[in-house]
Amino acid sequence: MPKDPHVHRNDPHYKQAKQKGFRARSAYKLLDIQKRFNIFKRAFYILDLGSAPGSWLQISRKIAEENLEKYKDQYYHRDHFKILGVDLKNISPIDDVKTVKMDFNTPEFQNEIEIFFKSNKLDIILSDASINKSGNKFSDQIRQNQLCYSILEIARKNLRYKGILVLKTFQGQDFNKLMKQMKYEFQIVKSYKPKASKKGSNEIYIIGLKKK
Ligand SMILES: C[S@@+](CC[C@H](N)C(=O)[O-])C[C@H]1O[C@@H](n2cnc3c(N)ncnc32)[C@H](O)[C@@H]1O
Repeated sequence: MPKDPHVHRNDPHYKQAKQKGFRARSAYKLLDIQKRFNIFKRAFYILDLGSAPGSWLQISRKIAEENLEKYKDQYYHRDHFKILGVDLKNISPIDDVKTVKMDFNTPEFQNEIEIFFKSNKLDIILSDASINKSGNKFSDQIRQNQLCYSILEIARKNLRYKGILVLKTFQGQDFNKLMKQMKYEFQIVKSYKPKASKKGSNEIYIIGLKKK
């Protein structure tokens, strides 16, 4: 939840998140991305990077459970779902979701992925992960972009053919280079600023649809 309650108490997304039982207002960013791009279509094996406090995991769990019934057909489907969340911070437990407290940029985490998903490839990788901002927009953007490249590496190793990647970055001079790299790796690439993103924030999400 927001760090400064005095500033955020009147924020409509903050209030709505509290009412609906979401752990963070960023829930509405993911719901907006889902509405626009239907990223969870046939998603059963899901990895969420930078999950704390856990609203994206709450949404992933709800949709993955609905998908078990929704996509019971002759096309790609599974009869169970698996969701893994990771953060440097603690994530309070969520039923049927595995969470680990570690840095996702480590060989140990790659090991966790392989053990948990039994070396199966994933349908979708989500990342709302962000660096600890220093306040210097220029260097923050460079560091956030570096984080995005390591997330792309995780996607390269673990995402299935035609899988989906959502990641967060900050707009700035390296943005076009990252978009270009995404276009090498995904058939369709979109950038999107959800309505719940705060005015004045330079955060933007990149959605890679259909991994090549
Ligand atoms: C904006 S929060 C995520 C909010 C989350 N999507 C939700 O809905 O509750 C970003 C998180 O990324 C995490 N993070 C950043 N770098 C990380 C890393 N290398 N490994 C694990 N977590 C990381 C931070 O600790 C932080 O909790």
